[in-house]
Amino acid sequence: MTTSRPKTQELLELSRTYEPECMNWQAPVIWDHASGAEIWDVDGKHYIDWTSGVLVANVGHAHPVLAEALAGQAARLLNTFDFPTPERLRLAEKIVRAAPPHLDKVIFLTTGSEAMDAAMRLAKRFTGKYEIVSFWGGFHGRTFGPMSLSGIPKIRRSYGPLVPGTILAPYPYCYRCPLAMTHPECDLFCLSFLDQTVAVQSSGSLAAVIVEPYQGTAGFVFPPPGWLKKLEAWAKSRGLLFILDEVQSSFGRTGTMWALEHESLAPDILVLGKGIGSGAPIAALLTRAEVFACLERGEMSSTLGGNPLSCAGSLAVLEIIEKEGLLEKAVRNGAYLKGKLLNLMSKHPMVGDVRGMGLVYGIEFVLDRKTKEPAADLAKAIVLQCVERGLMCGKLGLHGNVMRVAPPLVITPEQIDNSVAILDGVLSEL
Ligand SMILES: Cc1ncc(COP(=O)(O)O)c(C=O)c1O
Repeated sequence: MTTSRPKTQELLELSRTYEPECMNWQAPVIWDHASGAEIWDVDGKHYIDWTSGVLVANVGHAHPVLAEALAGQAARLLNTFDFPTPERLRLAEKIVRAAPPHLDKVIFLTTGSEAMDAAMRLAKRFTGKYEIVSFWGGFHGRTFGPMSLSGIPKIRRSYGPLVPGTILAPYPYCYRCPLAMTHPECDLFCLSFLDQTVAVQSSGSLAAVIVEPYQGTAGFVFPPPGWLKKLEAWAKSRGLLFILDEVQSSFGRTGTMWALEHESLAPDILVLGKGIGSGAPIAALLTRAEVFACLERGEMSSTLGGNPLSCAGSLAVLEIIEKEGLLEKAVRNGAYLKGKLLNLMSKHPMVGDVRGMGLVYGIEFVLDRKTKEPAADLAKAIVLQCVERGLMCGKLGLHGNVMRVAPPLVITPEQIDNSVAILDGVLSEL
């Protein structure tokens, strides 16, 4: 797609010249600045944001409280390696107090992948075993450990041999059940199938189960109610650590602080990322003191992990979420948005499924509602047209046919109306 915007043209040329194509962007836009749920590109064109970056800017872009906290901290102290700072200690206290009570210690890292890698290391050290059960369609990051857990073919392809000991089991993608069953008649057969999967693949060294509360990268796939709770019981009854990857689902995204609240889950290890800093680079791993105790002093450290800048940013994020009632807003405005998306589904046959909660939804495009044939090219054309008309969005999914709807939690009903109207207009002209 070409663009007539001159600064955009010039900068895209730099990207083509100096950046590799593996740096994926879906629409030809160079972001310049943003505020709340709105973005402006380098030529001044305006967009409503359905991406939050990639589910990062939960408190809204360039929030003044976050910006001030970051600027103030940058002028004071940027790095201490692992010497404690007031910011890190206050953040540790706040995060632990906000998390389920049994998770009584936290370590801060920099990215979701790094934190997931740390969770894998911890599981092996604590249990003395090495096998980890993860799921078809799962995504936990691009470094070698998390990549080895992934159940997305194109993430793993050509990188073998991967970290040994990962056992992949089907995730309940009920719209396209991998076991060709129908919910609820299936009675969650995928969980019984897990027994067989593990019996066949395990050499008897099971350490942990790692799962996302919903699978984002696979196309915003939400498991049916009760599945996660039963999975947790399955893991715990076998003495396995139950590790929840809330890198993208936490900090209000699903309408609660943690997605685990929807089913009162009690993971042994909870991993956080993205929204925890709303743009400040930070991730976290929480577990019980007893689990961390298997590591020696200094065994888990990271040059930038828990740096004062990111911790000051995350403290500001927590303050904003509370003061602005963002969890309530995500529930209220999320319900409003969901109603509008379901309305689009009733109007436009190419919308095969709309799923999600709070302020995270996937719109799955199909060529035919009966056969559910994925419409990846159509989804791409829809995304490009929406961006052209001022709606910043992207697509993903196992079949590349799911539009990502994950605006900052501060999106207003008026912005929802305007953004859905753009998508409606695009779909009406197909
Ligand atoms: C569920 C989940 N886990 C882990 C990651 C990896 O996080 P990062 O890109 O910060 O390394 C992601 C990123 O999209 C994710 O969605």
